[in-house]
Amino acid sequence: MESPKVLNQPATPILIFFLTISLMFSVSGAVPYDYMQYVVQWQPAVCSNPLSYKRCTKLANQSFTIHGLWPSNYNGASVTQQGGQAFDINELSPIKPQLDKCWPSMFRENDEFWRQEWSTHGTYSLNYGFSSQLEYFDQAVELCNSYNDWIGDILKTNGINPSDSTPVKSTDIADAIYYNFSKSPALRCSKRDGSVDGRKNLLEVVLCFNVNGEDMVDCPRAISACPSYIYFLSSATESSAPPSSATGSSATDTFQSALSWALAALLLHVAI
Ligand SMILES: *[C@@H]1O[C@H](CO)[C@@H](O)[C@H](O)[C@H]1NC(C)=O
Ligand SMILES: *[C@@H]1O[C@H](CO)[C@@H](O)[C@H](O)[C@H]1NC(C)=O
Repeated sequence: MESPKVLNQPATPILIFFLTISLMFSVSGAVPYDYMQYVVQWQPAVCSNPLSYKRCTKLANQSFTIHGLWPSNYNGASVTQQGGQAFDINELSPIKPQLDKCWPSMFRENDEFWRQEWSTHGTYSLNYGFSSQLEYFDQAVELCNSYNDWIGDILKTNGINPSDSTPVKSTDIADAIYYNFSKSPALRCSKRDGSVDGRKNLLEVVLCFNVNGEDMVDCPRAISACPSYIYFLSSATESSAPPSSATGSSATDTFQSALSWALAALLLHVAI
């Protein structure tokens, strides 16, 4: 029973110090993710996707637009610790025109895309990297304005131009971006439409940032997924026609075309 007495006096201020520190942490809460993935997608590749649920309803431009801004962990574990705030489009009205430009969906209403991205990714950054939905989406717009066109310019400057017939070394793309930003990007690829030859297209470029999306950091290697040679497509291989499955609008289209056929038949009948 000697030793606790000896330690008692000097230990008190140290104990208070550690109690204060741990209290500070428990009040602010440890951030439940390590970094943010800022993911941009190359529209021609998005619209060369063999998956029918992703059939594009808009014409693909030669541009990188946002897929998402994702709280992520270096060990690959998904971020689920917090979240659940419902998406509110009204909160985004001050930046809606910029979001439409930077973050379009290629196959549905833009706000449906934003809603899904918020509920599966963005919400987990609330109260950590960002204090509101507006702040989160506004940071994405800021990154879009800073980097989306720039990525295209970097590739062009390095002689990497869109082509449907000539493949590019994926390391040439990654290196060009790395040398410009001094941070490693990640590249992700998709299969070419209806591919039987296993050819892959550059689908996404990922830039990585700290928890509030402000400072660029190296992307972990593990989130890259492209073979050595890939296609930086110049055009979408998929038609931009809406899917033929009976959604509300295509059912209307079918009805209208049936109606015009009936009318034509009637006119023909009258004419005869
Ligand atoms: C493609 O570019 C045009 C012209 O800038 C624009 O109006 C349109 O919204 C863009 N489409 C997509 C899907 O980004
Ligand atoms: C980065 O890319 C831009 C756009 O192509 C170019 O103007 C600039 O010279 C590049 N900087 C470096 C360090 O490569």
